[in-house]
Amino acid sequence: MGLILHDFHPKLENFRDEVIFGLNKTPKQLPCKFFYDSRGSELFSQICELEEYYPTRTELSIFEKYKEEIRELVGRNALVIEYGSGGSQKIRLLLNMLDKPLAYMPIDISKDYLFADAKELSKDYPDLEIIAVCADYTKALKLPEVDVNFAKKVVFFPGSTIGNLDHKDAEKLLINTSNMLNQGDGLLIGVDLKKDIKILNAAYNDKKGITAEFNLNLLVRINSNLNANFDLSNFSHKAFYNEKDGCIEMHILSLKNQVVNIDNIEIKIEEKENIHTENSYKYEIKEFQDLAKKANFVPTKVWTDPSKLFSVHYLLVKK
Ligand code: AVI
Repeated sequence: MGLILHDFHPKLENFRDEVIFGLNKTPKQLPCKFFYDSRGSELFSQICELEEYYPTRTELSIFEKYKEEIRELVGRNALVIEYGSGGSQKIRLLLNMLDKPLAYMPIDISKDYLFADAKELSKDYPDLEIIAVCADYTKALKLPEVDVNFAKKVVFFPGSTIGNLDHKDAEKLLINTSNMLNQGDGLLIGVDLKKDIKILNAAYNDKKGITAEFNLNLLVRINSNLNANFDLSNFSHKAFYNEKDGCIEMHILSLKNQVVNIDNIEIKIEEKENIHTENSYKYEIKEFQDLAKKANFVPTKVWTDPSKLFSVHYLLVKK
């Protein structure tokens, strides 16, 4: 079968505008979608291997344990659409457990990573039609035509990436997703669960400092793409669980009063000022199911691990 690449992607100006806009806000913010340049994606892969970062291995163990049930629910000849194209380990596991999947459509904002992964995957799955789409899946999307007679569409959204959206945006994404699908199509989604705060805080403050490097890499990226002069030694990583909002908050903390230039624009940053870079929401199972119901999904099955660290949901579209 073939490999088709579609590039719908936002231009560099968006990166510049959003960075400058975010740094002029009070409090300062930078969108977490910009973490994933090629270095950021590499660091995120390293995070997934960390002892403290339980989500990846726990989700994989759930897929492994319940593969027969997942195969049954997805059925034969599916078109699998993946939001993000993370590392490809999970998609390989899914494709291997499914009953003759016909086509695979990864959608990701990070073009180089997406296209490289798609090419790699096409070598190992010669019978699969692969349609890689470079786009922002948090926006409403019109999917490209697929020249394959698939039985149903199933969106695969692992890794609790939905947790990086606030509840309103998560609901919007679920609504956009169900709008893109038909009655009987499915969503297979990984969602991180609320749990002991110590486990949560450790997962985002690993001993090796990889999460810190991942967070600060955003400044490295701004320096190199936008001709800026952030001095990394004047900033540090900060992450903690916000119990009231049910999310991990990640920030870049300024260690002194400083002025940074991005092109010719001056940004003043005070000592102890935070740049908010990410939220990672955690859910109760029912809390997530209620959110999905608001977006025309019917919760059909949910699997968890014995310690209830992580959940995988299969939701059906009801029109
Ligand atoms: C991609 N996303 C689900 C990760 C998370 O856990 O929120 C990103 C991450 N940030 C720090 N560590 C991992």
